[in-house]
Amino acid sequence: MDKVRVGVIGLGWFGEMHVDAYRGVYGAEIAAVSTRRPDRLAEIAGKYNIDKTYTDYHDLLNDPDVDAISICTHARDHLQPMLDAIQSGKHVLLEKPMSVSIEECDQILEAAKDAKQNLMVGHICRFENDYVVAREQILSGRIGDIVSIYSRRNVGAARTFTHLQVLSSISGDAVHDIDIMNWFVGKKAKSVYGMSSFTRQDIAYSDIGWVNIKYDGGALAVAESCWNLPDGSPFPIDAKMEVIGTKGVIYLFDPSNPLVIDDGNGREIQETVYWPTVHGQVGGALHAELQYFTDCIIEGKKPAITTLQEARDVIAICNAAEESARTGEVVIL
Ligand SMILES: NC(=O)c1ccc[n+]([C@@H]2O[C@H](COP(=O)([O-])OP(=O)(O)OC[C@H]3O[C@@H](n4cnc5c(N)ncnc54)[C@H](O)[C@@H]3O)[C@@H](O)[C@H]2O)c1
Repeated sequence: MDKVRVGVIGLGWFGEMHVDAYRGVYGAEIAAVSTRRPDRLAEIAGKYNIDKTYTDYHDLLNDPDVDAISICTHARDHLQPMLDAIQSGKHVLLEKPMSVSIEECDQILEAAKDAKQNLMVGHICRFENDYVVAREQILSGRIGDIVSIYSRRNVGAARTFTHLQVLSSISGDAVHDIDIMNWFVGKKAKSVYGMSSFTRQDIAYSDIGWVNIKYDGGALAVAESCWNLPDGSPFPIDAKMEVIGTKGVIYLFDPSNPLVIDDGNGREIQETVYWPTVHGQVGGALHAELQYFTDCIIEGKKPAITTLQEARDVIAICNAAEESARTGEVVIL
C-alpha cells in the first residue's frame, strides 16, 4: 500500500484537528468523515473538501475505500466504535484515553487479541521531541536509576468546562504524564494514592487532581493536573516534568522559556509543541504521531512506540487514583 485512505469518526475539536493534520501526513489522505450532526459533517466536508460523509459511523466502517480509522469521539464513547472498527479489519488509531473504565479497556484488548491490523492509542507525548530525547538519555543510563518524577499539566477553566462533563482532569490530562512516567520508569506501578477536588459546582468530574505512584523498585512519582487556571492565563498548556535519578536530573519544558508574544491584549504563550501550524500544516507531536501510524501501515509493521496494553496500564493507575480520592486509602495494584 502506498496511500493510506483515512476515515475520521467524531468531528469535535480534536476530530477536526486530525482531519487537518492528516493533510500534512506523507502517504495519507482523508477519504471520509463521520459525525452525528449533519450540519457539522457538512461544515467539515466543505472546509476540507471531503466527498464522503456519514452520520452513522458503521457506514464509514463498511466503506471499501477506507483503509484506516481515527476514532475521535469522547472517552465515554470510545468502546463501541473501537470494537466495531476492530471487527471491520481496518487499521485504527483511537484517541486517548483508551477508555475511562478498565472493564472497557479489557474488552478492547480481548477484541484486539487476534486482530491482524494495526491498532494504536494516541498517546501523543510519546511523539514529542523532548520526551523522546529524555527517554533516550534515561535508557543510556546517564541519570542512573529513576527515584522520583514530578509532572504538572494545568490548563484554563474555560477550555475544560465541556470535558469535565465527561471525565476528570486526572483521566483527561494527568493520563499523558502518567503514560510518560510509566515509559520512563519501565516498571510496574505497585500502589497509587490520589486526591481530587472541585473548584466549580457545574462540572460532573473533579477539575483538580493529584496522583502519587509508587513503582516496583521504589521510584516515586507525582502528577498534578489542575483544569482551573483563570481566564487570561497566558499558558495554552502549563506543563513541565522533572525526572530525578541516582546520577542526574532531567528537566523538561521550563515554562519560563517558551515562545512569548506581548501585545496590547497582554501576554500570550504560543503552543509550539503539540499541534502548531507550521508552513500551513499541522506540525508538532500530533503530526509525528499520525505520520508514524501511517508509516507503520505502509511499511507493514506493528506500532511499537505505544501499545494497547500500555494504554490500559495508564487507565488502571488513573482509576486507582480516582478510587483512592474517593476512599482516602492507598490502592494496591
Ligand atoms: N491527544 C491529545 O492531546 C488530545 C487533545 C484533545 C482531545 N483528545 C481526545 O480526543 C477525543 C475527542 O475529544 P474532543 O475534545 O474533540 O471531544 P468532543 O466532545 O468535542 O468531540 C467528540 C465528537 O464525537 C462525536 N461522536 C460521539 N459519538 C459518535 C458516534 N457514535 N458517531 C459519530 N460521532 C460521534 C460527537 O458528536 C462530537 O462531535 C477524546 O478522546 C479526547 O480525550 C486528545
